[in-house]
Amino acid sequence: MKTHPRIYLDNAATTPLDPEVAAVMKEVMDRCFGNPSSTHAFGREARTLVERARKTMAELMGCSPGEICFTSGGTEADNMILRTVVRAGQVRKIITSPLEHHAVLHTVEELHEKDGVEVVFLPTDTEGRPDLNFLEKELHHDGNRTLVSLMHANNEIGTMINLAEVGYLARQHGAHFHSDTVQTVGHYSLTFKDLPLDFAAASAHKFHGPKGVGFAYLRGGKACGPLITGGAQERNLRAGTENVYGIVGMAKALELALSARADHENHIRSLKNRALEKIRENIPEAEFNGDISEDSLYTVLNVLLPEFPDPDMLLFRLDIEGLAVSGGSACSSGSHKGSHVIRALGKSSQRPSVRLSFSRMNTMEEVDCAVDILARVVHNAPQPHFS
Ligand SMILES: Cc1ncc(COP(=O)(O)O)c(C=O)c1O
Repeated sequence: MKTHPRIYLDNAATTPLDPEVAAVMKEVMDRCFGNPSSTHAFGREARTLVERARKTMAELMGCSPGEICFTSGGTEADNMILRTVVRAGQVRKIITSPLEHHAVLHTVEELHEKDGVEVVFLPTDTEGRPDLNFLEKELHHDGNRTLVSLMHANNEIGTMINLAEVGYLARQHGAHFHSDTVQTVGHYSLTFKDLPLDFAAASAHKFHGPKGVGFAYLRGGKACGPLITGGAQERNLRAGTENVYGIVGMAKALELALSARADHENHIRSLKNRALEKIRENIPEAEFNGDISEDSLYTVLNVLLPEFPDPDMLLFRLDIEGLAVSGGSACSSGSHKGSHVIRALGKSSQRPSVRLSFSRMNTMEEVDCAVDILARVVHNAPQPHFS
């Protein structure tokens, strides 16, 4: 029996590890097992690797090494920032959007319930953009001790905010600004020192690095304390023996991602545009969720499909046909709760949505084949059975 290769278009969930990243990680695993906190030669070697990686990352992100705190990923970085600014008493009000990732949403909900923090959800337009006039009014009332937390790019629908615009607004009113930049670090050139941003979160596995490692950007190194307590690692900001190979791998992945960033972007944009065109031709009833303009996240395309008799089965059917995509945020896939983002956009719950997300490792042939599979599955859906 002929088996066809599987097509992976779920890169917003996670990206394949770059083989060059795997190679540097393997070398560290094989040769450098010391604990960076040990003062002997083994430990000093590991410490050197961690600090060299921090320096590389700081140079690439346009910040100083002391502003980068390594974490276990984006979720921990978001949690660390939000929880510690509240705990330090710097923030009593958080302004955010209902379309944020659960790493932010569930954290602010808990901060509201357990710590009495006031939480304001900004209204959004039909493409998921937060209402900045509303934000300005909220800040005008009460800018002090307020944190604005808005993601740079939405992981499900690709709608983006302008970091400079939001950041200056926050700054004018004396508010802090945190952005979940998990989907954009490694894909856009961000220079933290030039942005009016106090905090940001990032994750290596979204840019062909390893899973379980990321970082929090803390402007001026000003953190409000650790989320995880224990040893004095990360200048007392994040206890626990450092994930040395993960950190080295993340720095290598960022270097590779940014060294040819413009070429990767051109390639991925052409994949997204091809998918858009082909879906319009082959599934004319389909619509798109979120922003699909050139200003949207170029790695993500979210499609609102025609009604499907058993929407829960759609992803399984696509998977059986060899196409791996996601029905929303992969982080909650399998929970059958549907997407809070698509719901917040007010889209029909009868119509399933699928997210196609692309990486530099995808090809045009894969995109063509993926849309053929999607059209076949959607159009050959079993008809509802009336008795
Ligand atoms: C926007 C956004 N924030 C946070 C996260 C969580 O990152 P991590 O998987 O590193 O915990 C994700 C992962 O899907 C994401 O897309």
